Amino acid sequence: MKYDFTSILDRRGRDAWAVDGIGTCPGFAPDAPKEGFDAIPMWVADMNFPTVPTVPQAIIERAKHPAYGYFDPPEEYYDAIIRWHEKRNGVTGLTKECIGYENGVLGGVISALNVLCSKGDNVLLHSPTYVGFTNSLSNNGYNMVLSPLVRDEKGIYRMDFEDMERKIVENRIHATVFCSPHNPCGRVWEHWELEKFTELCAKHNVFIVSDEIWSDILRPGVQHIPTQSVNEDAKYRTIAVYAPSKTFNLAGLIGSYHIIYCPRLQDRVAKESSLCHYNDMNVLSMHALLGAYQPEGYEWCDELRETIAGNVDYACDYITKHFEGVEASKPEGTYMLFVDCTKWCETHGKTIDELEKACWDVGVAVQDGRQFHGPCHIRMNLALPLTRVKEAFDRLDKYVFNA
Ligand SMILES: Cc1ncc(COP(=O)(O)O)c(C=O)c1O
Repeated sequence: MKYDFTSILDRRGRDAWAVDGIGTCPGFAPDAPKEGFDAIPMWVADMNFPTVPTVPQAIIERAKHPAYGYFDPPEEYYDAIIRWHEKRNGVTGLTKECIGYENGVLGGVISALNVLCSKGDNVLLHSPTYVGFTNSLSNNGYNMVLSPLVRDEKGIYRMDFEDMERKIVENRIHATVFCSPHNPCGRVWEHWELEKFTELCAKHNVFIVSDEIWSDILRPGVQHIPTQSVNEDAKYRTIAVYAPSKTFNLAGLIGSYHIIYCPRLQDRVAKESSLCHYNDMNVLSMHALLGAYQPEGYEWCDELRETIAGNVDYACDYITKHFEGVEASKPEGTYMLFVDCTKWCETHGKTIDELEKACWDVGVAVQDGRQFHGPCHIRMNLALPLTRVKEAFDRLDKYVFNA
């Protein structure tokens, strides 16, 4: 590999929840390990890899010029985004007017809902559900109606279209927040699934807020299909939100963007997002995006995909071979593994709290799956060097699942 996905980054004291947050927030963060174990961060969704070198190069280059006043993004900013979506997702016809800045993807999701709904409205989401949606929607006065994803005979999480339709009708739903690829289940939706989903939305006039923050992190050979590209109706009823933050490990820099084709929705979302007076681009984060969406960034992202696929294969094989009663469906995208421990807990007479505590005690800092509506689940972040993944699974074997 040309880029570094093997060095162990020491992030301690370097502005990282992933390591410094451990043991600081019961109910949210994993507990600190017992003496003798170091923490292996496998919870919050950022990566323990250094980003592509062109990102710090671009930031440093800009920072050398000692004035950081008000500014507008250059054409290059829009061109970089347009090129990225063309090369990665096969999108054609995307123009500058369709792209709007958002501080965060979640902020963009809430601005979109504020345009499409009134407070107190019912909004359709799938469960398991990304915890950020649950927190942001309830915090902003929206009522989530959950349609569970159902595992098919091959263990693949699928949408339950009948359940969704019934809930849309019964709850008079006119907006849905759609996670594509899906966190935490790791699904990259196939074309027929997106077609059926968007047709259902069209039938009942449901607007789609499509969170595609994970769309760059795919298994090699898997293709992401933007919701807006599925058909002409979906193009105009969807507000899509993206960011380089998940792909290039830039969450601490802040900076996302929406893509909206419908001119009315463009204006309404831009207005809504502006109301907090704080939805403005940061000059260094803009240069980070420019550094990321370079040829090196494309190459780096391809190597990242290979690295994560290797980690996912290792983790899934290990679980199948060694952890009886533990189930995980292999993610096609994201770097998350959503692990169902129901049978293991039943067989061993343990609660999920006891199981998680056992993981945390030996430094395997996984996340509580209940935050994602997984009653007896853990979520494992696999974006770290393979040696660390192996170490984590050794400890889980010795001290937790086969202790
Ligand atoms: C599906 C999804 N949306 C949004 C976010 C957060 O994005 P932001 O920090 O830009 O609000 C995450 C982070 O994990 C996520 O998984």
